[in-house]
Amino acid sequence: MNNQVLTTTQENILKIQLNRPEKKNALTLAMYAAIAEGINQAEADEAVRVIFITGAGDAFTSGNDIMDFIQAPPLSDDSPVARFLGALTQARKPIVAAVNGLAIGIGTTMLLHCDLVYAAASARFRLPFVNLALVPEAGSSFLLPRLLGHQRAAELLLLGDFFDAQTAYTFGLVNAVVEDASLPDMAWQKAQQLAAQPPAALRLTKSLLKRATQAAAREAMAEELKRFRAQLQSPEAMEALQAFMQRRKPDFSKFS
Ligand code: COA
Repeated sequence: MNNQVLTTTQENILKIQLNRPEKKNALTLAMYAAIAEGINQAEADEAVRVIFITGAGDAFTSGNDIMDFIQAPPLSDDSPVARFLGALTQARKPIVAAVNGLAIGIGTTMLLHCDLVYAAASARFRLPFVNLALVPEAGSSFLLPRLLGHQRAAELLLLGDFFDAQTAYTFGLVNAVVEDASLPDMAWQKAQQLAAQPPAALRLTKSLLKRATQAAAREAMAEELKRFRAQLQSPEAMEALQAFMQRRKPDFSKFS
């Protein structure tokens, strides 16, 4: 498996560590494919009861690799991004996320599909889809307003500003905020606690918790994907993505 995604199984927990710290764990297509494969293996392996996701270095993930957005846009239904979203949203086993630092774009939206989310005090979150001339993904256009109400979701998605771990806690996006140094052990202990629960009851309860929203989230994801792909090929997205690569401020003044 790709060494930018490390997977290990210990104590009935499959740990997936995003491991591209020099790029703030920005997700390439190969990394999406590796995470999807990890989740699918965990689902198939009876010895695995819990899935644990974290990042290496000072980032959880800075989201989709922006160079990939330009060079290898995830346009097809079986793209690694689509496979990752399918695996994440359909996992029957509980997923614990330890957000050790920056969580941007899909780094934040994937948390909406995790079951227990713990954040380091220094973690920062951001949903810069509109800033990149894109639209939200991973069902977040449905799940975020449901969690936060329209105005707070709109503020996060339309302005795309950073927010801190305490704010994420207030929003109900994370279960707890802990000192940076305590995060790995604390989150792992929660995963161990889950792994010691009766596995069938655990899986059934997860599916019952999601029962009322699953179909609507799936429908939102399909609609988002359609819009996302169209926007990704738009001139305003080209301007936004190139501006990031060129380390300059984008200029949207000429677009209508
Ligand atoms: N895609 C591609 N490269 C990325 C990246 C991303 N999403 N996020 C970070 N990187 C790269 C940077 O280009 C830089 O590469 P370089 O060292 O070769 O120049 C390296 O990771 C370190 O990032 P840098 O910007 O120098 O660190 P920072 O601490 O000043 O800022 C971020 C970190 C994450 C806040 C900033 O890089 C950023 O905003 N990234 C884009 C996030 C984003 O918009 N993601 C898409 C969401 S849909």
